[in-house]
Amino acid sequence: MKKLFWSLLVGVILVSTSCEKSENPRLNIIPQPERMFVSDRTFKLNQNSRIIFEDPNPALRLIAEELAQFISSGSSFQPEIMPYSLVKSIENDIYLSVSLNDSLLGDDGYQMKTNNGQFISIQANTARGVFYGVQSLYQLFPDDFYDNEIRPEVWKLPAVTIKDRSRFAYRGMHLDVCRHIFPVEFIKQYIDLLAMYKYNHLHWHLTDDQGWRIEIKAFPGLTEVGAWRNETLTGHGGASSKVYDEKPYGGFYTQDEIREIVDYAALRYITIIPEIEMPGHASAALAAYPDLGCTGGPYKVETSWGVFEDIFCTKEETFSFLQQVLDEVMELFPSKYIHIGGDEAPKTRWKTCKTCQQKIKTENLADEHELQSWFVHRIEKYLNQHGRKIIGWDEILEGGLAPDATVMSWRGTAGGIEAARQGHDVIMTPVSHCYFDYYQGDPAAEPLAFGGYTPVSKVYTYEPVPEELNEKQAKHILGAQANLWSEYLKKPENVTYMALPRMAALSEVLWSPSKSRDWENFYDKLPSHFQRYEALGLNYSKAVNQIAVKEISDPNGEIMLDLKTEVPSGQIYFTTDGSEPDTSSNLFEQPIEKAAIELLKMQLYRKGQKIGETQQRAFKRSANE
Ligand code: ACM
Ligand code: ZN
Repeated sequence: MKKLFWSLLVGVILVSTSCEKSENPRLNIIPQPERMFVSDRTFKLNQNSRIIFEDPNPALRLIAEELAQFISSGSSFQPEIMPYSLVKSIENDIYLSVSLNDSLLGDDGYQMKTNNGQFISIQANTARGVFYGVQSLYQLFPDDFYDNEIRPEVWKLPAVTIKDRSRFAYRGMHLDVCRHIFPVEFIKQYIDLLAMYKYNHLHWHLTDDQGWRIEIKAFPGLTEVGAWRNETLTGHGGASSKVYDEKPYGGFYTQDEIREIVDYAALRYITIIPEIEMPGHASAALAAYPDLGCTGGPYKVETSWGVFEDIFCTKEETFSFLQQVLDEVMELFPSKYIHIGGDEAPKTRWKTCKTCQQKIKTENLADEHELQSWFVHRIEKYLNQHGRKIIGWDEILEGGLAPDATVMSWRGTAGGIEAARQGHDVIMTPVSHCYFDYYQGDPAAEPLAFGGYTPVSKVYTYEPVPEELNEKQAKHILGAQANLWSEYLKKPENVTYMALPRMAALSEVLWSPSKSRDWENFYDKLPSHFQRYEALGLNYSKAVNQIAVKEISDPNGEIMLDLKTEVPSGQIYFTTDGSEPDTSSNLFEQPIEKAAIELLKMQLYRKGQKIGETQQRAFKRSANE
């Protein structure tokens, strides 16, 4: 019966999608719901509308309260919240229920209906599903909702029928707070963004060479010493030209703050996975406790970026230390997974350390790679005994994977493929698509970033399941995650700039069915999301409308300029005489010779409409002309 319902619904949707483009208002929901039907009716939310939740259910009450607050933030009225048991009839209301009993929707799916335009019901099997339904409902409000000047007595919402559920169980965003730390209030704001796009994991990178950021009561030195560095490298700092800002920098989160953040995330159905790096990226810990290194130090909290040779020694004291740290970490974080790092651990020190070499002999290991594998196994065993599982970066494959480890594949997809073939769970986060510290536009026009080039359209094309895997192996791909390393992200506004809108694009990769992926549809939804970012005061990138200018050589060695746009059906008009380009100017169709150009002015058009401002690039004439 249910199957029949689904297939009927598919038929309706096919129809609805085609007429949606011409007649219906576009729905701007990101990530795109699995099935959605839009009727030409509207639902009128007004001062009589109540939010009715099935009771007794404290989780639904909380969702109802948040929804009421959202509505009142942009309206002249405040909806009343009512338990269903006290209600005589549902009229012009929003009804939340967990009694859908539809196994196809799993534990995060939901059904939203605007019943003949009379009332909205959001029903699911779980409160989590209702929460996601409410996130979609938020996105049905017109853009005017975010205009503080407009507070009408009625909001008209499109009447929809949605059946929706996630594609991947793991939908993650990462945040590095070691290279730069961000205030508690911002971490909450970041969590709000994750919730808006139906992410369910925040991977919180808490320890690294440049700072230890989590209070550990057993080892106060970690935050008294390890959370502070003397200064910070400025710019990219080439090998010969390192300039430092000469300003002490640091900070950490107290255990109370961490509890507050974990609770805040839990209310938004987000699990925080803490990362405690080992055996590498340990300079900050070693600066505080030099006995844990192979040489005994002295060590310092690092002031520049990269990979450092001083790592934890494999001596017994290290394990005693790490176990006590992990005890407190487990106390703070209910997450099933604890991330133990494992990446970028040079073996230089271990090679000349008597203790480490002795360990290799007594444990009958082949080399330092097996020693790292032994290290990770041992930590895994400890965490397993406490009911937790480890995640490690893909280097933990080297020397043999710990029996129950989940692998985060970051150096590409090979690590993920190998781990899945070995029957291990995998989270994909390859640098090619998932490193949001990479540029998303022309570096010349963008704030300083790590490097690379990962525009939003590229993120949008990402397919987390590698083709190399068979069906059984593919089941080990739990999902994917984008990483925000903070070397070049000093302030919250830098973080949101790199995240938005790329995390919107990745949310569609992770939540929506792969066959619904449609770049043009996604692009058309962006302006509404940009408006929402603006209303929330969030800095975000408009690089999607930027024209990329690339120098290429033609077969004769002539340097040519190739112009590219991500904008669907985008056309680039250009001039080289300094005049303002418009549709009567040259239309870019093939690479143009660079030599003759001093000033290139470009204007993007789409369907006859100007997109963004005129862009320009100046070139120096070569000396031999
Ligand atoms: C990493 O980017 N070092 C995991
Ligand atoms: Zn050692």
